[in-house]
Amino acid sequence: MHVLITGGTGYIGSIAVEIMRTQGFEVSILDDCSTGHADSVPTGLRFVAGSLLVRADIDQALEGVDAVLHFAGKSLVGESVEKPELYQRINVDGTRNLLDAMKSAHVMKMVFSSSAATYGEPKEVPIRESAATLPTNPYGATKLAIDHMITAESKTHHLSAVSLRYFNVAGAHKAERGWLSERHNPETHLIPNVLRSTPNNPVRIFGTDWQTPDGTCIRDYVHVVDLVNAHIKALETLTGTGHEIYNLGSGTGYSVRQVIAAAEKATGQAIPTQDSPRRDGDPAVLVADISRAKQYLQWEPSLGIEEMVADTLQSFQ
Ligand SMILES: NC(=O)c1ccc[n+]([C@@H]2O[C@H](COP(=O)([O-])OP(=O)(O)OC[C@H]3O[C@@H](n4cnc5c(N)ncnc54)[C@H](O)[C@@H]3O)[C@@H](O)[C@H]2O)c1
Repeated sequence: MHVLITGGTGYIGSIAVEIMRTQGFEVSILDDCSTGHADSVPTGLRFVAGSLLVRADIDQALEGVDAVLHFAGKSLVGESVEKPELYQRINVDGTRNLLDAMKSAHVMKMVFSSSAATYGEPKEVPIRESAATLPTNPYGATKLAIDHMITAESKTHHLSAVSLRYFNVAGAHKAERGWLSERHNPETHLIPNVLRSTPNNPVRIFGTDWQTPDGTCIRDYVHVVDLVNAHIKALETLTGTGHEIYNLGSGTGYSVRQVIAAAEKATGQAIPTQDSPRRDGDPAVLVADISRAKQYLQWEPSLGIEEMVADTLQSFQ
């Protein structure tokens, strides 16, 4: 099967490229490298250095393709609050262009990187796919708009699609040519920031008085390798037409202090921290109910927080 990976030079996309090509998939990449890194592209692979906003680039990338894994997009919550029109243009309009081009090229299979941000502040935890979707920022709103667009496309144009709503993706993957890992700038994810914490620039803990066992926020983390494997399983389910949505997480939450403790164990050193006030809009606990993915994708995460921290640490060395 020939798969186009949009966003294939980014964090998750580059690891998807690596795992899929070693499993025998033919892989092409479409990426404008706005937040990705061209040096992650393996030699000999078709790489269209282009944008979701340019139809000719998408058409070129879709040549000979059977299915699309759609990772490309903007994904910083804070930036989306400052520049909502940018998120509308790249995420929503860009995906519209991709869907139109897929229709013309008769490519009818898609797996989309949706997000837990579509749910907003949940009334019940763990969060099921049937929970209300009330995003609290423009980033989450664009992911929800795309999910709706894909549902409509599956009804009107026979698209076969899966949206995977990731919680927090972490960890790294060792390819033959070296580690592939997070290289976001700015880095907003907890694990890399914990590992880079220094006495002069300590990692901040936003709120220590939450209604949780140790007072810090609880989040759900999934290892990037488990996440990519879920995409491969999702691809296998794309037979008829329709649009399914699955949460991807570990189904278990870890508090900020538990992540810091895992990092201290991995590094053998105390991690400098700074207690800070709560951030607006941060719920106390966000944990996925992953029973749908277990049942319908036959998928289960195999790597825990220790591996996520240890692999990230190794990738930095
Ligand atoms: N990392 C997480 O924890 C997480 C959680 C939930 C959802 N997601 C989603 O997963 C996807 C991948 O996330 P990531 O962490 O790898 O982000 P990333 O920023 O590393 O990767 C995104 C890629 O998309 C490319 N891109 C952006 N705009 C483009 C455009 N107009 N045309 C072509 N390419 C473009 C970037 O250059 C980059 O390589 C995103 O859609 C993100 O919203 C990520």
